[in-house]
Amino acid sequence: MRTLITNIGELTTNVAAGDDLCGTLHDAAVLIEGDRIVWVGAAADAPLAPSISAEPSVSSAESLGSAEIDGAVAVVDAAGQAVIPGFVDSHSHLVFGGDRAAEFEARMQGQKYAAGGIRSTVAATRAASDDELRGRLRCFLDEMLAQGTTTVEIKSGYGLDVATEERLVRLAAEVTPEVTFLGAHVVPAEYADRGDEYVDLVTGPMLDACAPHVKWIDVFCETGAFTVEQSRRVLEAGISRGLEPRVHASQLGPGEGVQLAVELGAASIDHGTYLTDGDVTALAGSDTVLTLLPGVEFSTRQPYPDARRLIDAGVTVAIACDTNPGSSFTSSMPFCIAVAVRDMRMTVAEAIHAATAGGAAALRRDDIGRIAPGMRADLVLLKSPSRVHLAYRPGVPLVEAVWKDGVRAV
Ligand code: NIG
Ligand code: FE
Repeated sequence: MRTLITNIGELTTNVAAGDDLCGTLHDAAVLIEGDRIVWVGAAADAPLAPSISAEPSVSSAESLGSAEIDGAVAVVDAAGQAVIPGFVDSHSHLVFGGDRAAEFEARMQGQKYAAGGIRSTVAATRAASDDELRGRLRCFLDEMLAQGTTTVEIKSGYGLDVATEERLVRLAAEVTPEVTFLGAHVVPAEYADRGDEYVDLVTGPMLDACAPHVKWIDVFCETGAFTVEQSRRVLEAGISRGLEPRVHASQLGPGEGVQLAVELGAASIDHGTYLTDGDVTALAGSDTVLTLLPGVEFSTRQPYPDARRLIDAGVTVAIACDTNPGSSFTSSMPFCIAVAVRDMRMTVAEAIHAATAGGAAALRRDDIGRIAPGMRADLVLLKSPSRVHLAYRPGVPLVEAVWKDGVRAV
C-alpha cells in the first residue's frame, strides 16, 4: 500500500536548505510506501499527480498513468495545512507506579524540588504488578501519539533493586527499541550512606539482569544522587557491556557530569539547567547533544536554561518531555516547544527542529526526524497552516493525523 499526502501548505522536511534549518517546502506532497518515505517534492510533480478527493480515499494508480507505480494508493488531501516529522521524545520515565501531585502542589507554594522525591515513586513502583505498569505505559504512549510523538525513549530508574529494574526495562522493551537502564537514578533507602555498595549492585547483578533488554546506560550525576566518580563507574560498566552512554547532569546545580559525558562520548547530556562556560565549550566541540527539558523548569520553578547561548556556541540541542511523576509530568512535545520558544529564546524553527531531528541525534538515529526519501514514514499533519502555531497556540490540540511507520495511527 502507498499513501500520497498532497496539498501540504507547509512541509517541514528538516533537510536544511541555506539558512532554513527546517528545509521548508510549500504546496508539497509526500509519497509513502510501506514503512518508508519514497518521494518528497512539489505537489504538482508528485509521481501519481492524482486529483484530490476527500480523505480517506483510495484511487487506482493505473488510472493515473504511472508506469512505475501500480497498485492501490491512498490519497490524503492535507487541505493546505502543515506537515512536520513525528516528534522524537528522547527522554522519558514512563514505567512507574503512583503519582506525586501533592509534591507538585507544594512546589507551586514555594517548596524546592529535590532528587529524594524519586524514592516515593520507587515504593509505589515496586508494589505495582507488571499488568498495572504495562497498562499505564500504554496509556502514556497513546496520549503521546495523539500529540504527534512517534518515537519515545524510556528509562528505568524507579525499581532500584535487581528484580524491579529488570521488570521495568523488560516492559519498556515491549514498546520501544530505545530503552535506557537507569539503575543509578538515586541511592535507594535500604542503601542509605552506602552509595558505593549500591554502585557495586548497579554495575554487577543489576546490569547483568538489565543489559539484554536495553540499548543505553544512564546515571543521575548530581548532588543528592551520584558523584562524578560513581557516575564514571556506572557508565564505564555499561559501555563495557556494549551499551551507549547518556547522562542526567547539571539539573540542580553546576557539576562535572557534562565534562564526563563529553569525555565518554555520550550521545546526550540531559537537563543542563546550570551550565558553565567550560561545559558549553566542551559540548560545542563534541558529538554529545544537549537535551533540553522545558517541562522540568516549568514544573519545578527552576530557571530556564538559555538555549540561545547554546545554539549560538554551536551546541546541538534536542527537546524532550522527561515525562515522570516528579519533575515533569507532561507528555506534550507541543507544550515543550511552546515553552522553549517563550522562555528559552529558541526560534520556532529551532524548537521544532530540536524536537524532531534533535531528538533523533540524541538517540543517534539517522532514520527518523526528517521527511526525505528513505526515512521512516513518521509524519504529523497539523490542524494549522504553519508549524508556528505549535508555539503561537499553546495548549491547543493541533494534531489532525499521525503516520507511524507508514501506518495511519491517529
Ligand atoms: O529527569 N533527574 C532525575 N530524574 C528525573 C526526575 C525523577 C523524579 O523526580 O521522579 C528527571 O527529572
Ligand atoms: Fe530524567
